[in-house]
Amino acid sequence: MESSRRVGIVEISGKSGRVRTPGTETVTPFPDGFLWGAATAGHQVEGGNVNADLWPLEWAENSTFNEPSGDACDHYHRYPEDIAMLAELGFTAYRFSLEWSRIEPEPGYFSRAALDHYRRMMECCLNSGVTPVVTYNHFTLPRWMAGEGGWAADSSPERFGIYASRVTEHLGDVLSWVCTLNEPNLMAMLATTGVLAMGAGERQSAPGPPGTRSPGVGGFDPTRYRMGLIAADVERMAAVHRSAREAIGSVAPHVKVGWTLALIDLQPAPGGESRWKAARERGQTDWLTVSRDDDFVGVQTYSRSLIGPDGNVPPPEEVPTMQTRWEVYPEALGHTVRLAAEHAQVPVLVTENGMATDDDEARIAYTRRALEGLADCIDDGVDVRGYMHWTLLDNFEWNAGYSITFGLVSVDRETFARTVKPSARWLGQVASTNALE
Ligand code: BGC
Repeated sequence: MESSRRVGIVEISGKSGRVRTPGTETVTPFPDGFLWGAATAGHQVEGGNVNADLWPLEWAENSTFNEPSGDACDHYHRYPEDIAMLAELGFTAYRFSLEWSRIEPEPGYFSRAALDHYRRMMECCLNSGVTPVVTYNHFTLPRWMAGEGGWAADSSPERFGIYASRVTEHLGDVLSWVCTLNEPNLMAMLATTGVLAMGAGERQSAPGPPGTRSPGVGGFDPTRYRMGLIAADVERMAAVHRSAREAIGSVAPHVKVGWTLALIDLQPAPGGESRWKAARERGQTDWLTVSRDDDFVGVQTYSRSLIGPDGNVPPPEEVPTMQTRWEVYPEALGHTVRLAAEHAQVPVLVTENGMATDDDEARIAYTRRALEGLADCIDDGVDVRGYMHWTLLDNFEWNAGYSITFGLVSVDRETFARTVKPSARWLGQVASTNALE
């Protein structure tokens, strides 16, 4: 359908939405109210997250972590300057996560101080014209929850529902977007493709030999434990998600609720068609279908993976890769947004996309191409509500520690001083004009 809309001083017409300004530049506008943000996760930036399940794993003998998270970016204390910086750069949204282990450090005990802290963060966003997009769980669990068996414990849907309900009672009036779980399909992706979507660096997360350290606080043995995601099958994680969604809906029905999924762009290599089909189903589309009852689905993508008859086929030597050794493949964004829209049949929010590199020009080039693909989806009628870049700050990249840099802003590891990279200014400009030039 032909349409015509005005963006700034430029008249846009035609399905493509692309126009020539009076100069020669092509301008690609995004829909009114489109959210432009950057994303972080509590454990990766806050620092001192000592009650989380991963903390003892980071310090264990034979740890699979290259280094511990420690003080991270001290975002727990420095969030006012970080949010002010985000707003000044031109962003209109900030995706961050709540740390369950701070809010509920013992089962059933809720810390009012921690809840107040996150409330202040949200108010800080709103006072700066930034919409908070809040993730209730981004991988880390309280140690006691890990002790119960993490998500594999039969109590997990109820436990998460109680937490979600208490959090929403405290924050509901300032909330508008909630991601219940971050990438609950991550372990399914690993099982079906051998590819893990996190910057895992050299030491992929095989647990150390049993008995190398005494059992951790909270009754779980860090040497036998890997993330909170063990035994995370779609039925269990869907039950956990629904339990939170119902809790949120009954306390604050105005809040838009969804979950975010790890959507590596899976493609078949010669001979790998049946394996690819199975991987896509079990790792992605089975999970996307769960989103049909939600208000949106969060798409998180970085690269593609070719699936051959024996599993993941690593990119050939000559193909440019990121620090994580994933292929530089920004087309993944457009492809996976289409996949998500087709199977979830709800609006899409891009909740993570970015490039691990120390070459900031390459980050800009990658992001530009990814956004071009996203604009094409929108032109084709896909309902996309926003784009959150991963990530705001160079942060703790899980097993890889601080060596991998996805950030728009670098952080001095001694002083915590922030330095804005050109990519942050570039993307902030896109955000403030709501258009790609
Ligand atoms: C996770 C982030 C992570 C990013 C890059 C995603 O899987 O949600 O926490 O840092 O990928 O590795």
